[in-house]
Amino acid sequence: MSKLRFDSRVVVITGAGAGLGRAYALLFASRGAKVVVNDLGGGRHGDGSNKKIADSVVNEIKSLGGHAVANYDNVLDGDKIIKTAIDNFGRIDILVNNAGILRDKSFAKMTQEDWDLIQDVHVKGAMKATKAAWPFFRQQKYGRIIFTSSNSGLYGNFGQANYSSAKMALVGLANTLAIEGQSSGINTNVIIPTAGSRLTEDIVPPEFFKELKPELISPVVLWLCHEECTENGSIIESALGWAGKCYLVRSNGCNLRKTINDSVTPENVRDNWDKVTDMTNAQHYNTITEVTGELMGALESLSSEKSTNSSYYTFKHSYTPKDTILYALAVGATIKDPYDFPYIYENHDNFAVVPTFYVIYGPLGCLSSDLFQKALSHTDINIAGSLHGEQYMKILKKIPTEATVETRFRLQTTLDKEKSAVVLVEHETLDVKTGEKLTTGQLVAVIKGAGNFGGKRNSEYEIPTIEPPKRKPDASYTQQTSVDQAAIYRLASGDMNPLHIDPNLAAMGGFDHPILHGLCSLGFATRHVLKIFAQGNPDLFDSIKVRFVKPVIPGQTLRTEMWRENKRIHFQTIVVENNSPVIAGAYIDLKDIVMSPNSKL
Ligand code: NAI
Repeated sequence: MSKLRFDSRVVVITGAGAGLGRAYALLFASRGAKVVVNDLGGGRHGDGSNKKIADSVVNEIKSLGGHAVANYDNVLDGDKIIKTAIDNFGRIDILVNNAGILRDKSFAKMTQEDWDLIQDVHVKGAMKATKAAWPFFRQQKYGRIIFTSSNSGLYGNFGQANYSSAKMALVGLANTLAIEGQSSGINTNVIIPTAGSRLTEDIVPPEFFKELKPELISPVVLWLCHEECTENGSIIESALGWAGKCYLVRSNGCNLRKTINDSVTPENVRDNWDKVTDMTNAQHYNTITEVTGELMGALESLSSEKSTNSSYYTFKHSYTPKDTILYALAVGATIKDPYDFPYIYENHDNFAVVPTFYVIYGPLGCLSSDLFQKALSHTDINIAGSLHGEQYMKILKKIPTEATVETRFRLQTTLDKEKSAVVLVEHETLDVKTGEKLTTGQLVAVIKGAGNFGGKRNSEYEIPTIEPPKRKPDASYTQQTSVDQAAIYRLASGDMNPLHIDPNLAAMGGFDHPILHGLCSLGFATRHVLKIFAQGNPDLFDSIKVRFVKPVIPGQTLRTEMWRENKRIHFQTIVVENNSPVIAGAYIDLKDIVMSPNSKL
């Protein structure tokens, strides 16, 4: 394993005469960097100055064969510190803003001087040194900057109003410089250390103090400053040989008004406070654009709510290529088939998502909410007996291979089909980052025994299934499912209903064996249609509508029979072993038809 070296690099470390700064300086020098050891050498509360401590670290480095030069300026003269690097070593590559003091007092007793001095050393000092280094970094299109914050800033600490506010200001500064420096190869990160030093000697118990060695933190800072490290804009906490990343999260929140024309009253806020502060699905945002996109989405949903007078539930989810690949495998994709390979290999030139991937979010969203309870408020029938009756989905934008998405879903209506109640749920999935709607769909659930409640039988929301033409299929594709198909699909879809794996529970549901998820068969059929009529190209998929007729037992063989009518492919899927249809009245609309050259169709 290659060692991380800094041979041609020049590093400036402020406050490097003691504590953490000294540990950084020694480690950088031992890895070949030329080091400017800055230290004013004042007291712990910012009084006086002394050249000795910077000199002693420089001597220590030199005695070990390293390169270092001392600088004794106050960080408020940051330009002079950077000049020392340029004058002695001709460049600067890395700046570690580390110098710091304390003036702890309760806010009631804190003087203006206590406040100003702390703000000056930590915030203004770090800014001044960084401002002086910035043009060099920009010009050479390379730089690494560390700001030193504190848990006292992130969480607050009694007696440190001045210090904690200054330390949090550095987080804000780093956030913005990470953005502004990105195009110039400048990475800016924040370290949150906890170390035994002059600053903490009377704060932490002695036995703990001796374990909090600065040398256990310096390797983390070195890595963040290495050219191989791409971390940028992060807050990294480290102590005792441990390191972790911190970030802010925001609750899902909720709309405080029902329509865009309503005003918001303090009572609306009070009545929604539990939702405003519910952190169950709290989310981290990487950029301000993501947050704005989210707000625009909330505005859009308000407009929809106005027109339909029904409220949306939201469900947020992040996924990576690992999840899309697992989904592809769960719906039968195999490396043996070149049309499937782009779904299951992240480095494939055409790496893509099986277009029905987002269909999993409809059921997931519904099951995570009280939507069904509301839909069936007329009956005490257990929703555990509900069946997935039909599914529609349309793709509006290409599905990214990784994203944070929000699925909004709402109850459209509950229909009374005498023996059963039929619940129509509209769902749409948006990319949180861009605010763009990617897919829209409709889930139809059938709840046996919940009908006859005097409701209407039909609705304009229903998307009809369509029977195929009365001729022999134009094409068919046969594929055996695996006995483990449902076991894999559970993991891929998050639908962990034991009916799909537990023989006892399946028996209680009236099935001889655990059954495959209807949506899994839908994924198989989608791949089959794309193979025959689109040369496997997922970009040609527009929409799908299916009716689930009978369950499939994992291990059975599926045959998808297809009829082409212009760009609409009607299909039905049959279980070969007993010749019984499992998907009927189904169709996929394609954007275009691209047949394989040797096709006879
Ligand atoms: P330390 O007191 O051992 O080292 C700080 C050094 O900064 C001292 O040598 C001091 O002379 C120098 N310094 C102070 N004001 C200066 C100025 N105006 N110009 C130039 N040099 C100046 O303290 P420690 O613990 O090593 O702290 C390093 C940094 O880590 C500080 O920013 C501190 O706030 C921060 N920090 C430390 C924690 C800890 O547990 N030790 C916890 C969280 C943050």
